[in-house]
Amino acid sequence: MTTNQTGDERPRMLAIRQERFGGPEVLQPIEVPRPEPGLGEILVRVHAAGVNPTDWKHRASRLFLGEPPYVLGWDVSGVVERVGLGVTIWKPGDEVFGMLPYPHGAGSHAEYVVGPARAFASKPLGIDHVQAGALPLAALTAWQALVDTAGLEAGQRVLVHAAAGGVGHLAVQIAKARGAHVIGTASAPKHEFVRGLGADEMIDYRSTDFAEAVRDADVVFDTIGGDYQLRSLRALRPGGVLVSTLPVPAEGLHEEAERAGVRAELILVEADHAGMRSIAGLVEAGRLRATIADTYPLAEAAHAHEAGETGRTTGKLVLVVRD
Ligand SMILES: NC(=O)c1ccc[n+]([C@@H]2O[C@H](COP(=O)([O-])OP(=O)(O)OC[C@H]3O[C@@H](n4cnc5c(N)ncnc54)[C@H](OP(=O)(O)O)[C@@H]3O)[C@@H](O)[C@H]2O)c1
Repeated sequence: MTTNQTGDERPRMLAIRQERFGGPEVLQPIEVPRPEPGLGEILVRVHAAGVNPTDWKHRASRLFLGEPPYVLGWDVSGVVERVGLGVTIWKPGDEVFGMLPYPHGAGSHAEYVVGPARAFASKPLGIDHVQAGALPLAALTAWQALVDTAGLEAGQRVLVHAAAGGVGHLAVQIAKARGAHVIGTASAPKHEFVRGLGADEMIDYRSTDFAEAVRDADVVFDTIGGDYQLRSLRALRPGGVLVSTLPVPAEGLHEEAERAGVRAELILVEADHAGMRSIAGLVEAGRLRATIADTYPLAEAAHAHEAGETGRTTGKLVLVVRD
């Protein structure tokens, strides 16, 4: 334990902090006091943490977190270091993975993080921390969209946009595990990859208009937004459901959905103990696995942001915090 200039005697840890909005260069590896678990919280020693588009969006401009300084990161896979008062479901040494409450619970791009005990589930058996750290935010988004919001059932037809992306490639697997018929969109070189995840049909969005090619889908899962929301309505059967992860509705979306007799839902992912347990169950059943696009040491988080911001990655980017 060291005492810093302010007399704070808490142990120190490395964290990726930003003092201002900007490009990847604003992400600075610095030493900060290690957080303490409060009531109902656990302190987790982070081993790996996924990087998501919301990380680079929050890095670049004001979104949901107000003004920096702050430490980003919602995905966690690691080991429980300490538990706060009232926590009964975890003890030090347990291996856990989870998503910190979105948006205000961010802070996993660091050596330690605290979060509510029930934001976590046991790390699935048979996968390492990099695999587990890639899953929480992206898999929960897909789960909450397809299962909780759309109520996807066996035999239904679902169109998954950006099916090679971080969320999309997990959505394809979750939809298949539910027994759905999956149509994916991706550029042609990625079709084999997505078919390998179980997709039944693929559309090259660069050469084919999905809104013409797909009819009578029960569910469309959109991770692109903008005019994709409106155009996706045309692919739905009456009574079908569009779920979009871009929370700003295209102009006229809800009016157009009503006219077409379909539902249009805009989702923001939520921390979710039950959802994490369902995801762990799918992993342990061999139905769900994250594809790792690349890994970076914690101190090189800026490079992970640069790679992600190309918008072309296949699967997930992950920060390795501890081997
Ligand atoms: N609301 C929420 O709670 C929530 C949660 C998670 C994610 N999101 C949002 O959802 C979006 C996707 O997240 P992500 O993690 O999946 O992103 P990502 O991993 O960065 O997505 C990259 C993928 O998108 C594909 N792509 C890009 N444009 C496409 C298009 N027009 N049609 C089909 N595929 C296209 C790319 O494939 P090609 O190289 O083939 O183009 C690439 O594989 C982001 O905007 C993110 O912020 C929101």
